[in-house]
Amino acid sequence: MILFKYFPLLSLALALPVHFDGSVESNGSTISSTSTSPAAQFTLPNDLTIGVKQVPNIYNESAIDANQAAPGYDLLNISLSDSGLSGLLKLRGEPKNIYGYDFDLLNLTVSYQSDERLNVHIEPVNMTDVFVLPDFIVTRPEVESLDLDSDLLFTYQAKQFGFSIVRKSTGESLFSTIGNPLVYENQFIQFNTSLPKNHVLSGLGESIHGSLLTPGTNRTLFAEDIGDPIDGNIYGVHPVYFDQRYGSNTTHAVWWRTSAIQEILIRNQSLTWRALSGVVDLYFFSGPTPKVAIQQYVATVGLPALQPYWSLGYHQCRWGYNSTERLQEVVQNFKDFDIPLETIWSDIDYMDSLKDFTTDPYRFPLDKFQRFLNELHNNDQHYVPIVDAAIYVPNPHNATEANYSSYVNGAKLNTFLRNPDNTTYIGAVWPGYTVFPDFFAENAQTYWTGEISKWHKDVSFDGLWMDMDEVSSFCVGSCGTGMIDKNPIAPNFAVGSPAGSYPVGFNVSNSTDYEIFSESLASVSSAAIASAEASAGTTLSSTAVATSSSTSIDAKNTLMPGKGNINYPPYAINNVQGDHDLATHAVSPNATHQNGFIEYDVHNLYGHMQTNSTYNAILDTNPGKRPFLIVRSTFPGSGKRVGHWGGDNTADFAYMYFSIPQAFAIGSFGIPFFGVDVCGFNGNTDMELCSRWMQLGSFFPFYRNHNYLGAIDQEPYVWEAVTSATKTSMAIRYLLLPYYYTLLHESHTTGLPFLRQFQWEFPEDSFYAGIDNQFFVGDSLLVTPVLEPNVSTVKGVFPGANESDVYYDFYTHEKQNFTNHKNHTLEAPLGHIPLHIRGGSILPTQEPGYTVAESRNNSFGLIVALGLDGSASGNLYLDDGESLKVSEATFVDFVAENNTLTAAPRGNYAIEQALANITILGVDSEPSTVLFGNSSAKFQYTNSTVFITGLEELTGDGAFADQFVVSW
Ligand SMILES: *[C@@H]1O[C@H](CO)[C@@H](O)[C@H](O)[C@H]1NC(C)=O
Ligand SMILES: *[C@@H]1O[C@H](CO)[C@@H](O)[C@H](O)[C@H]1NC(C)=O
Ligand SMILES: *[C@@H]1O[C@H](CO)[C@@H](O)[C@H](O)[C@H]1NC(C)=O
Ligand SMILES: *[C@@H]1O[C@H](CO)[C@@H](O)[C@H](O)[C@H]1NC(C)=O
Repeated sequence: MILFKYFPLLSLALALPVHFDGSVESNGSTISSTSTSPAAQFTLPNDLTIGVKQVPNIYNESAIDANQAAPGYDLLNISLSDSGLSGLLKLRGEPKNIYGYDFDLLNLTVSYQSDERLNVHIEPVNMTDVFVLPDFIVTRPEVESLDLDSDLLFTYQAKQFGFSIVRKSTGESLFSTIGNPLVYENQFIQFNTSLPKNHVLSGLGESIHGSLLTPGTNRTLFAEDIGDPIDGNIYGVHPVYFDQRYGSNTTHAVWWRTSAIQEILIRNQSLTWRALSGVVDLYFFSGPTPKVAIQQYVATVGLPALQPYWSLGYHQCRWGYNSTERLQEVVQNFKDFDIPLETIWSDIDYMDSLKDFTTDPYRFPLDKFQRFLNELHNNDQHYVPIVDAAIYVPNPHNATEANYSSYVNGAKLNTFLRNPDNTTYIGAVWPGYTVFPDFFAENAQTYWTGEISKWHKDVSFDGLWMDMDEVSSFCVGSCGTGMIDKNPIAPNFAVGSPAGSYPVGFNVSNSTDYEIFSESLASVSSAAIASAEASAGTTLSSTAVATSSSTSIDAKNTLMPGKGNINYPPYAINNVQGDHDLATHAVSPNATHQNGFIEYDVHNLYGHMQTNSTYNAILDTNPGKRPFLIVRSTFPGSGKRVGHWGGDNTADFAYMYFSIPQAFAIGSFGIPFFGVDVCGFNGNTDMELCSRWMQLGSFFPFYRNHNYLGAIDQEPYVWEAVTSATKTSMAIRYLLLPYYYTLLHESHTTGLPFLRQFQWEFPEDSFYAGIDNQFFVGDSLLVTPVLEPNVSTVKGVFPGANESDVYYDFYTHEKQNFTNHKNHTLEAPLGHIPLHIRGGSILPTQEPGYTVAESRNNSFGLIVALGLDGSASGNLYLDDGESLKVSEATFVDFVAENNTLTAAPRGNYAIEQALANITILGVDSEPSTVLFGNSSAKFQYTNSTVFITGLEELTGDGAFADQFVVSW
């Protein structure tokens, strides 16, 4: 399907970075580098990168349907307990051993844990060789009380066991396996729930997909390093879905607490969930609204970190900033063009021969680099470098390498992943043959903290960017065993070659391929996009089948007892890599941890474990301050410590669109601090795409422009039109920083996502289900971005307009005469992103400065947008923006009604800046006077807007030092 023709289908996508300023031939055979280490002589041999071809089970026409073939279980010995019930499940008749050996006896425990949470736990009675996700990784939720008022009810059928979860208040079945057998084998677990027709499901990530899990979706959960293939398995794993029922206006969530490799099939009236190891540990959350269901889930896995205030500033990155001078020049360019820059980032360019925790002595000599960082910090700006998961193995024959301390220290502390025979597992990543820190090892934290804090003494970074943590390895298995005297070696694919493609619509005369996309966007519902996607998925899958049909492993012959055949499980998932081998472009499933865990069971946890250790290590370098961490591979609970970026997207309009549903999903997984590579990573961007995207990106919590090594420059100052569009949007973002920060705090304390879907805000109106080309920032701002080329208008819908809600144009303050359920065409010439304030909102603002620190020294303002009933409310949260344990904080509640605005502060964080102005939208007639307390205030009235100014004199002690009342 042409729409997605730029999707790097089975390319080794790799994003990544490499980096020398030397050259890499397209076959990767020669590298010239300016570093002291000898030029790389060797390339990773091709044959080491090729796995054993598998036919994914879902494309295997002769595959057994476990639902038909499995014998199922009978429930015996049922006994009631204080919190629920338990019993034994006995296999009915002879084992069928479909994709593993059947367990004959299972232990069922059902517990009502809290008013809103119910747990169904099924595990084999013989737990030898069965992996259980440890409590210290993701807390296992427990029974909180025995005196409960749950809206959920567990019911079961004992003979041919099945169970249902029923919502008591409506009698609706939320989940039911009755009629389909439970399958529980050593390498295959499956259950199947029925779903209502026209279901509205979301979640199950990470994936590039529209916001709804439409029938026909197959979702593979296996952490993978690949450049954002649509519908393929990518970096993170989040086994949770949200089920929104419009009939009863209720929403519930279902989470499987497992790190297993999984596959989920969503059909018109069913959902089939498969896992290749572990235990069944299902949690049902009763909602009943979508926002409450998300909050219940997020509170259970861990409320999101409160990110430092400065992280809301603008971030600039690219692969190819390959010297201190280059970084300096970019920082200066931003200054010269007067475009705010908060943080400059480094991809792997800074490293000495691509080794973690090093700096290139020629391109980043430490004294110069440190002067640069000092200057940056003196200007209240920040620096964030990338760190990869893998550690280079020095070549024993090379004296200058032998003391690479990050390897030496790890080896001494015995903290690297091993092979089953207890030798060190050696894969290959950017620098050559590498080892992989084993974050389950006893000394892992000591090692990692040591490396990070030692490096921080040289390079005073303000946060870290963790990449390649799926964990990625370019070869199959321990390919470096016996090969390290070849190090350093280059990857066997071209990196950094000029990006050939341009965005759809770049060449207008050759533009037929974007019409499909624009047609789909023109429709209010995202159904068209979903179906376009489905077709794209079909394209992907047929290719996948074609590449793998020649050879296959016969599932039957791979059955093995105990842990089973972990390298080639009998059930082959549709791993997105071309040959579908689990070890292709990833550390092999048989890599073994010091505590006995095998990668097969914990692969999906690598990034999460590394995140935890990195968080602790950064905290050590800067005690008491919030660690800033952006990571690629996430798991339930990762949001407690990190933010996430969308990975290696492509500079195209389709990927700008996909950033919105990706943000919704990642937000619902408890990681609100999210953004994608603005202007696009892979491929070349162009002026129009970059202009649109710089504007859209300014409404995401994490706002970073990042670019591929070989692509044309895309800093916002490269094109005049992008400069001006960027300044417009950044001025709005920085003006709204107090609102954004208040939202970060709301996420941190309640679990609510920062960016919100219409269907979460208007959960009783199915018209708004699945809209994912518009969104709310918090509850109060509605963004309608242009997501296609060569247009100057955009269509949008405005939920509740003129019924429950009213919207104001952010730029003109005009009340909009929109109609609920109607598609409105908005003017959107290049450089303008339609933005509306929802009536009923009060937004705190602060005059924008060049940096966040400068902005925080400016005076405050308020935007009051009255609702249909003439009232509005909002709030402000402030603290020092960086302390991990917040001891001083101030909250201000704002309420407007009956022509009066009250601001009620509480808390002990001193706000010194004054209040400058208040803008009140939707005031129907000109007031004769405006009073601030008892003093009359200066004001103007136009466009039904009262603009009150000159309040600095009345708020000299600080904008919110005292409660105040404004009346008009
Ligand atoms: C999803 O899986 C089914 C098998 O259950 C397969 O027939 C179908 O082609 C898959 N769909 C896609 C889009 O890959
Ligand atoms: C079943 O699980 C419960 C709860 O963990 C445990 O108390 C019980 O001993 C288990 N029964 C068997 C037969 O394993
Ligand atoms: C769901 O909400 C709609 C719109 O508010 C309402 O008409 C309908 O009666 C509600 N359904 C139930 C079961 O409450
Ligand atoms: C438990 O399972 C292991 C294999 O995983 C097997 O070796 C052992 O015999 C089983 N124990 C019993 C009591 O069945």
